[in-house]
Amino acid sequence: MLDIDRSNVPAHIAIIMDGNGRWAKKQGQERVFGHRHGVEAVRSVIEGAGEIGVKYLTLYAFSTENWNRPKAEVDALMNLLVQAINNELDGLMKNQVRLRVIGDMGSLPEKCRTGLQYAIGKTSGNKGLCLVLAISYSSKWECVEMVKKISKSVKDNVLDIDKITAETISDNMSTAGIPDPDILIRTGGECRVSNFLLWQLAYTELFFSPIMWPDFRKQDLWEIISNFQNRERRFGKTGEQVKKK
Ligand code: IPE
Ligand code: IPE
Ligand code: MG
Repeated sequence: MLDIDRSNVPAHIAIIMDGNGRWAKKQGQERVFGHRHGVEAVRSVIEGAGEIGVKYLTLYAFSTENWNRPKAEVDALMNLLVQAINNELDGLMKNQVRLRVIGDMGSLPEKCRTGLQYAIGKTSGNKGLCLVLAISYSSKWECVEMVKKISKSVKDNVLDIDKITAETISDNMSTAGIPDPDILIRTGGECRVSNFLLWQLAYTELFFSPIMWPDFRKQDLWEIISNFQNRERRFGKTGEQVKKK
């Protein structure tokens, strides 16, 4: 399993699973063909993260902006989501994976919402990896929700404006209670964050992989983790300060 230092495994890895459509088109197939094969990559990465003791894995599955894609693709993605949750549930139970969803659940078709809620309930007692699916999620949407929640607390006299801190903001995000990602991976070759976890990524190490998502496997994840372990995270300090510890 490469040269991963087990005493320095990242607690939280976030992934922008990109490149499904291009992967399919390159083979003369429809874009959905790529989405379907993306499920195999998801399975491999969940296993790979669990095997080395990662605590949180956040997967960007569908953005707020993805609603603007052709209806047929959106419908196919929603159906695939329901199918994947049903098919993978036994595996999630076996691997002790706990499911959590971030995003605008209310915007999802009824079938998706109930499928997800069922899986969240069923896996809630699992003690292994926490799998966070970002569905109908965008960071700007999340920030608007956060501002509304905090404003309401201020209006209701539950919260004093002068007591608002960075922690108050984190606690009112959909990722409340989850440590900020140590690693962000974007597959598919694009170098942008596409409205993903803007607040939470403040000190995250970024990795852009040319691999298209359907081809990504746990070995690719481990290679990135190994690379991450050779980076120096300074959090604003000097290299000398960080080395001293
Ligand atoms: C990522 O792959 C999956 C979703 C955004 C739902 P894409 O569908 O964006 O694939 P490309 O980037 O067009 O190749
Ligand atoms: C980002 O991919 C969203 C997900 C992977 C779910 P997109 O393919 O939607 O991003 P852009 O449009 O290329 O920035
Ligand atoms: Mg894309």
